[in-house]
Amino acid sequence: MSDDEGAARARAVLAAAFGGPDDDPAADAAAAPGEDDVRVWAAPGRVNLIGEHTDYNAGLCLPIALPHRTYVALRPRTDSLVRLASAQAPGETWTARLEDVAPGEVAGWGSYVAGVAWALREHLVAQGADPASITGFDAAVDSSVPFGAGLSSSAALECSVAVALDDVAGLGLSASDAGRAVLAAASVRAENEIAGAPTGGMDQSAALRARAGHALLLDCRPGLDPVESAEQVPFDLDAAGLALLVVDTRAEHRLVDGQYAARRATCEDAARTLGLASLRDLADAVDASDDPAGTLAVSLDKLPDDVARRRVRHVVTEIGRVRELVALLREGRPDAVGPLMNASHASLRDDYEVSSVELDVAVDAARVAGALGARMTGGGFGGSAIALVRADQVETVADAVRAAFEREGLGAPGFLLATPSAPAERVV
Ligand code: GLA
Repeated sequence: MSDDEGAARARAVLAAAFGGPDDDPAADAAAAPGEDDVRVWAAPGRVNLIGEHTDYNAGLCLPIALPHRTYVALRPRTDSLVRLASAQAPGETWTARLEDVAPGEVAGWGSYVAGVAWALREHLVAQGADPASITGFDAAVDSSVPFGAGLSSSAALECSVAVALDDVAGLGLSASDAGRAVLAAASVRAENEIAGAPTGGMDQSAALRARAGHALLLDCRPGLDPVESAEQVPFDLDAAGLALLVVDTRAEHRLVDGQYAARRATCEDAARTLGLASLRDLADAVDASDDPAGTLAVSLDKLPDDVARRRVRHVVTEIGRVRELVALLREGRPDAVGPLMNASHASLRDDYEVSSVELDVAVDAARVAGALGARMTGGGFGGSAIALVRADQVETVADAVRAAFEREGLGAPGFLLATPSAPAERVV
């Protein structure tokens, strides 16, 4: 979907659901004199190159923004009503009043959208500014980010709305990386507190702070200023003759929320047992040690059970792999990162236990067919895998994965190519 197409489709959904501004006396006619003048914003999905389940452990991760985007056509209102429509839910609308949006009060997909408005209002209040600059709005979305594929369709939705409301309210946050960090934090609050998903901050930061041609090295320690928390690492796949093939396993997610929350709780308990603020502190100690394996082993011995030991070992070794992969990219050796991707997958499968049959089949088949490296990406339990392949081997690897799924009696997977793309922005 090109930006023009995405914008036209989002506008058409808006007009079909809520009519033009003339039909709605409450709409801000000055901001939207006609249907074609309704503005549209977009935000991308993401894949993570490495650094999985590290963000909520104050760790490091390395996402890129996808060319696939969620588009939101949005028209501010003079009252506090929020009315939403989506091409993905034809004929349905979602409605709430801004003053009724609070933790536990709204549900459904609209909570991701209204949650961002709520979080921006909270931000303004905390700044001593007037929250009333965030008014109600009519909005419609369409998206080329596959839904439920572990490619952060929910963060793309939140972040498209975040840049839209920022623009409409004249806050100017999208204009700088520091402002974008604020929008990312508001989007995370929407997801955690209003939509009720206990995720970390990687996806929203990728959607708002990534850059085309780069991977985003995120340092998720709380309280860092934006300059310290994000670094752009050049990642030019074309120039290196490489491609990043995404395999959407189309596997049904089961128990995702409960399992994700359980992993997070185990990590937080383990950090407490070790007397640390987060597992990042252990990762840093291991990284600085002359005897990394010994330093890790001493801490693992203090943990109460084997499950906790394996979860912690994943987080600590994964943070180390992010550092190693970034070092290779900085040396201009993107074709050397495959073994780190493979090790990340093994750790997620065996120690963190968040892979699935479909992800393992995708990763194994891709490697046998010549991928330089492959791993699951995102939260796991279904979703997508990524394979780094020579550009001329994309078809061969995709065919091999397709054949392996058929052999194993699995449903047909989907494929897309990930090129490091632009972050959330206004498109028309
Ligand atoms: C999901 C979450 C992220 C992150 C990943 C795992 O995508 O939304 O915050 O924790 O899982 O790395």
